[in-house]
Amino acid sequence: MPVIEAERLSKTYISYKRPPGLWGAIKSLFHRERHEVQAVRDISFRIEEGELVGFLGPNGAGKTTTLKMLSGIIFPTSGTARVLGFVPWERRPEMQRQIALVMGQKMQLWWDLPPYESYILLKALYEIPDDVFERRVHELAEMLEIRHVLHTQVRRLSLGERMKCELLAALLHRPRVLFLDEPTIGLDVVSQKRIREFLKEYNQRERTTILLTSHYMQDVQELAQRVLIIHHGQLIFDDTLRALVERYSPSRALHLQFERPVSAADLEGYGRIVRMEPLSAVLEVPREQVSRVASALLQAFPIHDITIEEVDIDEIIRDIFAGKCEPVPG
Ligand SMILES: Nc1ncnc2c1ncn2[C@@H]1O[C@H](COP(=O)(O)OP(=O)(O)OP(=O)(O)O)[C@@H](O)[C@H]1O
Ligand SMILES: [Mg+2]
Repeated sequence: MPVIEAERLSKTYISYKRPPGLWGAIKSLFHRERHEVQAVRDISFRIEEGELVGFLGPNGAGKTTTLKMLSGIIFPTSGTARVLGFVPWERRPEMQRQIALVMGQKMQLWWDLPPYESYILLKALYEIPDDVFERRVHELAEMLEIRHVLHTQVRRLSLGERMKCELLAALLHRPRVLFLDEPTIGLDVVSQKRIREFLKEYNQRERTTILLTSHYMQDVQELAQRVLIIHHGQLIFDDTLRALVERYSPSRALHLQFERPVSAADLEGYGRIVRMEPLSAVLEVPREQVSRVASALLQAFPIHDITIEEVDIDEIIRDIFAGKCEPVPG
């Protein structure tokens, strides 16, 4: 049985626009303009136990809305979902004891208390035995390298330290499912890396199912085997990162530097010439032929240096969102 299952899940937000100014306020007493936003449209997917899945999409795509439905904070307009077998928005305590939601832009810890005091409140809430609690705090604080800040007021902590303390709070009750909404937002590169390493290790160690949104491709690239891509509320891709690259980046660029001048005519047949100078060239080669072409080139030419350009997943994603690539339903 999948741990997370969404079936044609949709959410339309309805709000009422009020024209500006006093006259607008008066008019709106009688007539309010109804405004609908289809934030999530008919999305379906399944996530198995222990998976760490990246959830990508540009601003306003519907990521947070989806996570809120899956964690039971809001109701869908239509469709259904199950998390650990429960319908999330029924908010059954048995489910809530087994999931956690962390939002990078919204802190749950008490601002004026040291993190440890908040943990004690959570301990009571989740009825965690004393010894289990102590062990858990110690172990997680060790992994997150935050032992030294547990007794400092949250308001005095750096953003990175606060985020780590938030993670500890979310994991205290050993949830089986963790929803992370931009856990690395606003953090410097070093802190981002720490959090990524932590999540990776934690996921492997505890086999917690994790669904993570991020604007940083690096997060997803390093953590997730599988990605869901949402655009204008629709799921447009659901597969591995590898499959994403294969689909959207069918060729690689070979950068060549020659010992002696080589002409464009010489390179004919090896690939598409993107740039040609007497002592260097860039060739575009179908991905699956890269190694064959590279060794053929090494044999045929006086090559000083050859490099194969890395696939830029960021660029692929940008192209998809810019409508340059034909999206495929997952
Ligand atoms: N409470 C709300 N009322 C009305 N519209 C909303 C509400 N919350 C979100 N929306 C709209 O729904 C759409 C999806 O928003 P959502 O927050 O899910 O996007 P997101 O993918 O998380 O974006 P971001 O990357 O910026 O966090 C947006 O157009 C947003 O303006
Ligand atoms: Mg969001």
